[in-house]
Amino acid sequence: MSVSNNISNSIPFLDLITPHMELEQELTSVFRKALQTGGFIGGPMVEEFEKAFAAFCDTSHSIAISSGTDALRFAIMVSGVQSGDVVVTVPHTFIATTEAISQAGALPEFVDIDERTYNMSPERLQEFLEQCKRDKYGKLISHRSGRPVTAVVPVHLYGQMVDMDAILKLAEQYGLTVIEDACQAHGAEYFSRKHNRWMKAGSMGRAAAFSFYPGKNLGACGEAGAVTTNDAVLADKIKVLRDHGQAKKYYHDVEGYNGRLDAIQAGLLHTKLTRLAKWNAQRRERAAEYDRLFAAADEAAVTPFEPSWSRAVYHLYVIRADDRDGMMNHLKKVGIGTGIHYPIPLHLQKAYTALNYSLGDFPVAEKAAAEIVSLPMFPQLTAQQQARVVEEILGFGSRFNRKQAEAEGAALATADRTA
Ligand SMILES: Cc1ncc(COP(=O)(O)O)c(C=O)c1O
Repeated sequence: MSVSNNISNSIPFLDLITPHMELEQELTSVFRKALQTGGFIGGPMVEEFEKAFAAFCDTSHSIAISSGTDALRFAIMVSGVQSGDVVVTVPHTFIATTEAISQAGALPEFVDIDERTYNMSPERLQEFLEQCKRDKYGKLISHRSGRPVTAVVPVHLYGQMVDMDAILKLAEQYGLTVIEDACQAHGAEYFSRKHNRWMKAGSMGRAAAFSFYPGKNLGACGEAGAVTTNDAVLADKIKVLRDHGQAKKYYHDVEGYNGRLDAIQAGLLHTKLTRLAKWNAQRRERAAEYDRLFAAADEAAVTPFEPSWSRAVYHLYVIRADDRDGMMNHLKKVGIGTGIHYPIPLHLQKAYTALNYSLGDFPVAEKAAAEIVSLPMFPQLTAQQQARVVEEILGFGSRFNRKQAEAEGAALATADRTA
């Protein structure tokens, strides 16, 4: 991931400097306040941020956690998932999703993604659930591992919403808990046909996890995360879990974790949260501009698909291209940063050899991983920079085509001579 630098003609993949320089005074005053009060852990800065983030997500609670991974782990642990249970998710996500599942004591099992949204396919989830059996106690048992299936983790990848009505309906039908991985989707919205209204990412499952890793739409100046939920009991359990299992100092009801968020990070996040709606709107404008530029070029690349029920926040702008690696190399040479999110689906990662999946198990995720490329995307990206990105992509494409044409031409010429 290249970060903004001083080469004037280069276009970074993301810019972590400009937004912080614009807010320098407000951000440094947070730091000063912490120094002056000695309030480094917990306290009003954390509580005020939690309140504000819950309000932003339309949930009654938000619990600040030290990272998105731990936020997801804690959300799974308090949602009734027992050690050894199966939690169903997708192979096309960052490994933190499955790390959180495994580290909560559960077993990740996968279903494929939808080809257009890159998110969990409700049809594939349905197929998976239909293949499960019921044991004599009525528990849903995975056909793969023989273990109880108790939860689903849909991931709103790239800031695009999962089709939550469909997932929630299946979960209700099969008695599963839904925990949203909203780590890339701060402020994304979903139009629920069931509730007939727009709903925020993180407000629809039993609980949801957010990451505030610096490059996220809302990023800390270090590591940070949060759980959101409308369940007060769950919120209290997570507060205990993040703080060594104590609700009262040195009275430990359970063995917990050190999963608290620093007060300084909470203060910095609170300052940046006041700009998040604007930054998300700017990301949507930048995405629309890329869409326009690609559409004008006869859709030389497959651009992101936004269903009518989704208002994405474009954490990433991901296209598909035939010669993805060649194109990325070309863009690198001309100073344009890109990324692949993610190059190897989780079921094929070495870390998950023991899960016994094989190539071909999730063809949609596998194909996506081979073709996707994330283009520069951040609120301060300019239309001129985008025009240059697309121009370079088209230029590369035409060179690629010319080469192919030349090769075909040469073959024809050889055929002519030998005729
Ligand atoms: C989809 C997804 N899940 C979970 C995480 C984990 O968040 P963190 O890096 O804050 O632990 C991330 C962050 O990178 C993510 O993108």
